[in-house]
Amino acid sequence: MSQPAVRYRLIKEEKHTGARLGELITPHGTFPTPMFMPVGTQATVKTLTPEELKAMGAGVILSNTYHLWLRPGEKIVQEAGGLHRFMNWPRGILTDSGGFQVFSLAKIRDITEAGVHFRSHLSGEKLFLSPEKSIQIQNALGADIIMSFDECPPFFESYSYIKHSVERTSRWAERGLKAHQHPDRQALFGIIQGGGHQALRQQSARDLVAMDFPGYSIGGLSVGESKAEMNHVLDFTTPLLPTNKPRYLMGVGSADSLIDGVIRGIDMFDCVLPTRIARNGSCMTSHGRVVIKNASYAHDFGPLDDHCDCYVCQNYSRAYLRHLFKAGETLGLRLASYHNLYFLLHLMQNIRQAILADNLLEFRENFFEEYGFNRS
Ligand code: GUN
Ligand code: ZN
Repeated sequence: MSQPAVRYRLIKEEKHTGARLGELITPHGTFPTPMFMPVGTQATVKTLTPEELKAMGAGVILSNTYHLWLRPGEKIVQEAGGLHRFMNWPRGILTDSGGFQVFSLAKIRDITEAGVHFRSHLSGEKLFLSPEKSIQIQNALGADIIMSFDECPPFFESYSYIKHSVERTSRWAERGLKAHQHPDRQALFGIIQGGGHQALRQQSARDLVAMDFPGYSIGGLSVGESKAEMNHVLDFTTPLLPTNKPRYLMGVGSADSLIDGVIRGIDMFDCVLPTRIARNGSCMTSHGRVVIKNASYAHDFGPLDDHCDCYVCQNYSRAYLRHLFKAGETLGLRLASYHNLYFLLHLMQNIRQAILADNLLEFRENFFEEYGFNRS
């Protein structure tokens, strides 16, 4: 194999925690880690343009194999010159493998050793996704980072089910590696599963680390377990991973979980949370969530967040945003989405500074106090 597609450079470890400052060098630019990745499921981060995402400092976004395979189909994306060209996004892209989306969205399903049979959530058509098919689609889409096809079992499934699932996910990972056509252009990450069981997380990590992936994802979390349970799993899982490769915690995007993930050695996160709640008028601020439709904001001509220097907070008031949401105006969705993503990207920037200054635990204390969380 020639040069790997993506390289991780560890710059500094924080003195008092497992936090790491680093950077990821991809074929579409270098971005600093820890990093939050906005989600653009259908080759668009809902309501925002690539120019706006660039302006707020996004270096990498996530998209979904399952959705793009169903619509418009990977052939059309390939014909456009790949996902970057198709959606006019020049920076990094990561695609999820479709495994998780099949389990959460598709109707009837049958999980076999070969792959997963299911019905499209759009047309009802019978479909089949396998490790090979997922990689083939992701090779056609052309993201910088692609994911293994995994099974994400419910956190509270039985030990024996999760054990069998971990073993199958390892076999699927091996098949995905063999099917991957462009290891020089696209980095394929392995996904660690194992629910809440230390022995199964160990088994999963041992299997996947032996396959020498260029990066490792931690899956099967933020699926209904408590934050304490998630942190506990991270406590014993990240130390199983090589220090010279990036670690990506999948599907996690609340401010408190980002800080707690970084403390446990996570480098990358993604979640629909900031953009999804924005479209319901829920805004993340340094003082906690602001539900902008509340009557209390009708005469509030101050910014959404007095600590935020984003385009929205510099130019619009809470009263105006409330009006847009009450009137059903689409600009409200855009402005709230912009602010929420900016808020998380800016939080990550502050976290990186705290790693550099070796004061991440103090940063956490102060942030949680202001945000309105309990300390532990
Ligand atoms: N997104 C959030 N969790 C998961 C997971 O466990 N697997 C995959 N493939 N994607 C995810
Ligand atoms: Zn703002």
